[in-house]
Amino acid sequence: MGFPSIRPRRLRRTTGLQRMVRETTLRADQLIAPLFIRHGEGVSRKIASMPGHSQLSVDMAVREAEAIAELGIPAVLLFGIPAKKDLLGSENFDPQGIVPQAAYAIKKAVPELVVISDMCCCEYTDHGHCGIINMPGAPGYNERLAEGYLLNDPTLELLGKASVVHAQAGADIIAPSGMMDGMISTIRSALDKAGMEHTVIMSYAAKYASAFYGPFRDAAESPPGFGDRSNYQMDPGNAREALREVALDVEEGADMLMVKPALAYLDIIRQLRDRFDLPLAAYQVSGEYSMVKAAAERGWLDEQRTAMESLTSIARAGADMIITYWAKDAVKWMRG
Ligand code: PBG
Repeated sequence: MGFPSIRPRRLRRTTGLQRMVRETTLRADQLIAPLFIRHGEGVSRKIASMPGHSQLSVDMAVREAEAIAELGIPAVLLFGIPAKKDLLGSENFDPQGIVPQAAYAIKKAVPELVVISDMCCCEYTDHGHCGIINMPGAPGYNERLAEGYLLNDPTLELLGKASVVHAQAGADIIAPSGMMDGMISTIRSALDKAGMEHTVIMSYAAKYASAFYGPFRDAAESPPGFGDRSNYQMDPGNAREALREVALDVEEGADMLMVKPALAYLDIIRQLRDRFDLPLAAYQVSGEYSMVKAAAERGWLDEQRTAMESLTSIARAGADMIITYWAKDAVKWMRG
């Protein structure tokens, strides 16, 4: 057989036929909306590198959370901008810290909205790294390691402590994003010990050292003060390593997995979907958003079509959930 009997274009002839055979359709249920929270009241501070997004004070974030829930988006992901940064990032484990405050207020106003806390030290440390760095006087200082090297095990302790604080304030899901070895088992046992055994852990299991985080570091005010994150985040050249990372997180008790960034790592999403049964999220990061925004401003790309094509591709690759700065827009676009 073959041509001329077989003509794939028959199924594309009308939009009705196209709708019948469409394999991947994005749903609002799949989306997660990130929020940047800062101290103050009535504050909404535009993020220059991410048009359409602002740092919000807790009261404003509550309103935004209501609008997000109203659109049928099930979850928000919280990032905090602390009042003050220090060596250990102490605001991260302060019960009066910005994320615990926001988690509490959002859960109170919109109980059905799932609150996810991005669990990392980099927004809170004065050096901007995702944990404790090696230097004389730092907890766990190791003179055999280079100064400035990120200390794994001392950092775990902070993550465990902060996770309990965020969960007790109301976070339904803790999402550790620092790529520390053992972070999942440490957080799981800290939560369980505190009676928070129902709190979900979504692991940033395969997080790459990516240039696509550029605009975010402006949004969260968390650029590394020196060096980069390549001694803890993954090398973009590696795929098998992602499988090993994920296998460990599954063993340690992760409830959900994540790949980050999304569009440049669709092969990783697909491989993880094929090999692991846990729910899988993908993070369409700041750079993926801002580069389309910038091109759209110049009239070079159509924002809606480009965004929806990217989101659909991420879902087609195998992501069950997508963290995206287009969450609200996407739902509006889906509804036409
Ligand atoms: C914190 C964190 C980062 C992002 C999410 N959590 C920044 C980083 O690792 O440098 C990036 C998100 C984005 O770019 O949208 N560790």
